[in-house]
Amino acid sequence: METTLIIVKPDAVQRGLVGRIVCRFEEKGLQLVGMKFMQIPMATAERHYAPHKEKPFYPGLVSFMTASPVVVMALRGVGAIGICRNLMGATFGSKAAAGTIRGDFGVSNAFNLIHGSDSPEAAAKELGLFFRQGEIVDWTRMGEGWIYDLSSGTPE
Ligand code: RTP
Ligand code: MG
Repeated sequence: METTLIIVKPDAVQRGLVGRIVCRFEEKGLQLVGMKFMQIPMATAERHYAPHKEKPFYPGLVSFMTASPVVVMALRGVGAIGICRNLMGATFGSKAAAGTIRGDFGVSNAFNLIHGSDSPEAAAKELGLFFRQGEIVDWTRMGEGWIYDLSSGTPE
C-alpha cells in the first residue's frame, strides 16, 4: 500500500470545487487517511516546492499556494501515487485530458487545481511536511473486500 499527499489548491477552494475533487478520489476507491483545511505557511510552501527553486515560475507558484486556504489529504491504496497522478491529469489545464480533474475543471496552466506527490520519496517527504504524528489515521474500511480481491491475502 502507498500513501500519497494531495493538495486541493487555492483556486479549487475559491471556486467551490473541493467536494467534487474529493469525490473523484473517493469514488475511485482510494482510502482517505488524513485531511485538513489550512492556509499553507510560506516556509512550508517553499520547502514543498524546493525541487523547483531555480525555475522561473517558482516565486509565482509559492505566492499562489499561500494566497488562500487549501485542503490537504493523505490517500492510500495499492499504487496510490500513480493512480492519483492519472486522476489529476497533465500539469497544464490547457493540455490535460478530458475525464481528469485538471482536464475537466480548469483551463489555466498556473492555476491547475491540485497537487499530487510524484514518487514514493516525494510522498514521504510531503506527508511529513503537512501532517503531524497522529494526523494520519490507520482505519479499516467496512467494504475493503469489495474494493480489492483479498482472497490471496494481498489486495489485488
Ligand atoms: P504539482 O507538483 O503541483 O502536483 O504539479 P506537477 O507535478 O504536475 O507539475 P510540476 O512540474 O511539479 O510543477 C509544479 C507546479 O508548478 C506550476 N508550473 N508552472 N509555468 C510553467 O511552466 C509551470 N510549470 C509548472 C504548476 O502549478 C505545477 O503544478
Ligand atoms: Mg510536481
